[in-house]
Amino acid sequence: MAKGLYISKAFAIATVVLTVSSIAGIIGMMIAYETARSNNPPTPPPTPVITTPYPTGPPLSMRLPGNLIPESYDIFLHPQLYTVMTNATNQSLIFTGNSTVYFKCLKNTKTIILHSKEQYLSSVKVTDLDKGQSIKVEDTVLYNNESNFLEIRLGGLLMENGSYSLFTEFEGYLFKDLAGFYLSSYKRGPGSEDNTERMFGNETIVVELDERYIAASQMQPTDARKVFPCFDEPAMKATFKVAIIHRPGTHALSNGKVTGRRLEDIDGEMWVVTSFQETKKMSTYILAFIVSNFDFKESENRVPIKTYARPEAITAGHADFAASITGKILSFYESPRGFGMNYPLNKLDQIALPDIIAGAMENWGLVTYRETSLLYEDGVSSTANAELIATLIAHELAHQWFGNLVTMKWWNDLWLNEGLATYISYMGVDNIKPEWNMKDLIVLNEIQPAFQVDSLASSHPLSSKEDDIQTSSDITELFDVITYSKGAAVMRMLEDYMSERVFMIGLRKYLQASQYNNTVPKDLWEYLQKAWNENGDSTNISEIMNTWTNQMGYPVITINTTSGEVFQKHFLLNQTSDYNFVWQLRIKIMVEGKQMPSVDLKTKSSSSPDFISKNDKWVLANVNCTGYFRVNYDPANWDRLVSQLERDLHKIPVINRGQLIDDAFNLARAKQINVTLALNTTKYLRNDTEYIPWESALRNLDYFILMFDRSEVYGPIQAYMRYQVSGLYEHFENFTMNSTAIDRLSHTEQYNHINSISVACSNDIQDCQQMVTNFFDDWMNNKTSNNIHPNLKSVIYCQAIAAGGEKEWEFAWGQFQNAAIATEKDKLRYALSCTKKIWLLSRYLEYTLDPDMIRKMNAISTINYIAKNVAGQAIAWNFVRANWDYISYEFDGGVMSLGGLIEGVTKRFSTDFELKELKQFQNNYNDELGSASRAVEQAIERTQANIKWVKENKQTVLEWFRRETSESS
Ligand SMILES: *[C@@H]1O[C@H](CO)[C@@H](O)[C@H](O)[C@H]1NC(C)=O
Ligand SMILES: *[C@@H]1O[C@H](CO)[C@@H](O)[C@H](O)[C@H]1NC(C)=O
Ligand SMILES: *[C@@H]1O[C@H](CO)[C@@H](O)[C@H](O)[C@H]1NC(C)=O
Ligand SMILES: [Zn+2]
Repeated sequence: MAKGLYISKAFAIATVVLTVSSIAGIIGMMIAYETARSNNPPTPPPTPVITTPYPTGPPLSMRLPGNLIPESYDIFLHPQLYTVMTNATNQSLIFTGNSTVYFKCLKNTKTIILHSKEQYLSSVKVTDLDKGQSIKVEDTVLYNNESNFLEIRLGGLLMENGSYSLFTEFEGYLFKDLAGFYLSSYKRGPGSEDNTERMFGNETIVVELDERYIAASQMQPTDARKVFPCFDEPAMKATFKVAIIHRPGTHALSNGKVTGRRLEDIDGEMWVVTSFQETKKMSTYILAFIVSNFDFKESENRVPIKTYARPEAITAGHADFAASITGKILSFYESPRGFGMNYPLNKLDQIALPDIIAGAMENWGLVTYRETSLLYEDGVSSTANAELIATLIAHELAHQWFGNLVTMKWWNDLWLNEGLATYISYMGVDNIKPEWNMKDLIVLNEIQPAFQVDSLASSHPLSSKEDDIQTSSDITELFDVITYSKGAAVMRMLEDYMSERVFMIGLRKYLQASQYNNTVPKDLWEYLQKAWNENGDSTNISEIMNTWTNQMGYPVITINTTSGEVFQKHFLLNQTSDYNFVWQLRIKIMVEGKQMPSVDLKTKSSSSPDFISKNDKWVLANVNCTGYFRVNYDPANWDRLVSQLERDLHKIPVINRGQLIDDAFNLARAKQINVTLALNTTKYLRNDTEYIPWESALRNLDYFILMFDRSEVYGPIQAYMRYQVSGLYEHFENFTMNSTAIDRLSHTEQYNHINSISVACSNDIQDCQQMVTNFFDDWMNNKTSNNIHPNLKSVIYCQAIAAGGEKEWEFAWGQFQNAAIATEKDKLRYALSCTKKIWLLSRYLEYTLDPDMIRKMNAISTINYIAKNVAGQAIAWNFVRANWDYISYEFDGGVMSLGGLIEGVTKRFSTDFELKELKQFQNNYNDELGSASRAVEQAIERTQANIKWVKENKQTVLEWFRRETSESS
């Protein structure tokens, strides 16, 4: 999956939620649903096969016993969905189906245990394939707990080495819960109101003829079991033969190539039966099934690549960009410089879905994306949109090998999938867009965010213990920054250590040896070690890497440039570490602009003459931040570095200019250096126009803004920012005014151009505010033509709405509703949160509760945008508390979603009063916080740390900003 965009899961269309608490509940729900939607009498439900009362106590283990090994499945799926509603149709969200799993028995047993969730089973049959006889099913038990175990108790014995099959017939529902086989929908064409009223029984219901429906799937991590009963663990690889039965006029996609399509009369209705080629041996979580009326754009390649999207988007050319780069990235991966191995399947489909829980999902041969992650429009989408699309495609394609062909044995090593795919995606994009400098941007996009999360006491190691990861929520929690970004950072460090050439040789060996199989980190180290040894090196790779994968956090190394001493210590932001961690690391050094030999550190402390500053020369460690650690120096060397920056900034590599700032600010927060030293590292920025240092500084200063934008410190902060940014703003001003020239700027210059406007406008530089207002007014007056350069849309919309009032807001809301492409919608949705008018923000918050206004998948990020605005802080927090019952019920489903919401609305908390409110909230809801309980706990900790930080630093910070601005003015 692609990270970053986890959203709410549990949203059922019907007003009842589907739980497997009792069969009666399901049947009741089915009837309620049927009668609400159709005037046909409800079909009586089939007799349940499950007869035993539901055991609720947890089984000893949530893991399958491993005595039965699936080899292949035959699956029939029959969704009854109409993708287009007409006057004459009744929508139906039922899907029925049957599946046969063929399996081997490794140990005599009288029970079959596999997974099934939220399904209604109507038939269960077991056959002894060796004897050709059926085996009596005595009882079928569905555990009412997180194991999702379906236990089939047999009258006869399954024998060791015997071959058997299990047939099940099932029924489920397509809900908008973004999990398993689910419903997605969109309105055809902007703003069309082609509705009609229909009688259902004695009730009038509005049928939206413009709504289009899609049945889509998302199995990762544990929802294949929601579609058909299966052995739903990643190491239970099997082949899958799939047939989908769907309405004429729709088409079906799955992992395999379509091998047949025929019309069939079923109970007097005509259906299309689409059969798919049997898959390769694979895990259940990368299965995919889609029924839609989408069109596609085909691209030339060794294997056919089709990019699917809404027909309107295909016609408008929104899939062209994705289609044009996918083949190139795939070919690079296949090439000898890449993985040296062909893409294992004979077709690749990718599809942009209106609703999906992740940013994208790597289903083998049928990759699913959010629309914002795949669709691009020239002249409307920005450089950042292009980068996101390229990065996600490169990530998901990397998974076709790393993840799909070779899979982690169990979810505790999820980082093997995600860390590698994330790291490799930078190679993939760098290969097609070398001018983007992706290999530098990884520091901002992955490494700094990983440093942030990994410096909290609540972090966790990359590899968890297998036994600690049992339930679906244990697994879901692992889809986090550590798994993705730290995983990538650690891979980058290892690659730098081994050299790219040798590292890639090792990866190729690993792929060759492990294909169609499952692995643990030891396997990866083994093949990298082989490549390493062949290269004539003998250092033990697993010994080095275990210090990075098995210990949480990372070290700060402190260098004394007088004595040459160096020591490492677990770096924590808010407390001292209780652990005696030691990492094995390589320190790359530069002295006064000259690269020196690296020094390896394997013990707590050491010393080297290479760290000693001679003749007052500065020493810089961790060149290009290839090591996953922070660096602290003695004060004299910090001063030497800071004055070098002010004298001639180009002597220090651009990544390190950013990293010096990031390290200094974080060391100051951890009280290892003075806060004034950290602030001093930003003074030279007046003369820097590069993106990486600016962006590093802005992210760190953001904390100061959050802590102080409701206090008297804010005035001097703004004055300082105005002074610092004025040069940068002028540097880019010609490009702002003559936007055709923007395309001549480099990729990162384009990003810093946006920063210059955002900082200038939000700190009240009059020219800037006038400029954005003019651009926005032009658009309001010409409605149809928007002449704002795609890169600048987001910042100009936001700043113009901030400077404007109701008129600007209403105009943007209208544009939001009518925008034809999701990337444009997202920019407007963000910009709407920038208004300073509290009543507008308040109304906007209410819209997040109405999925017709703000799609459910976007509700939480919208609330967070509003909370980020100082004018929205208090009302967003009040809103979340006032609507907690609804929010926690509707938006729950991924730990990420509610956790992210709590984090978003409490980020600014830094007063005793806010702490009290937070604790009260925790008390009030206690058991009902669900997946947010950890986030609330963390928010309390964070608030306490903030209160302390503000107390200790406010006066110093105020004086520093006052001093700096009085000198400058
Ligand atoms: C659907 O019904 C509406 C009113 O009931 C009618 O105006 C419209 O023409 C009908 N459309 C079709 C395609 O039959
Ligand atoms: C499974 O469903 C398909 C499609 O409805 C049907 O053709 C097939 O006969 C079913 N299999 C069994 C064993 O009932
Ligand atoms: C509509 O039908 C329902 C159930 O059949 C019944 O309870 C209700 O009273 C009816 N309403 C009207 C207005 O006839
Ligand atoms: Zn992924």
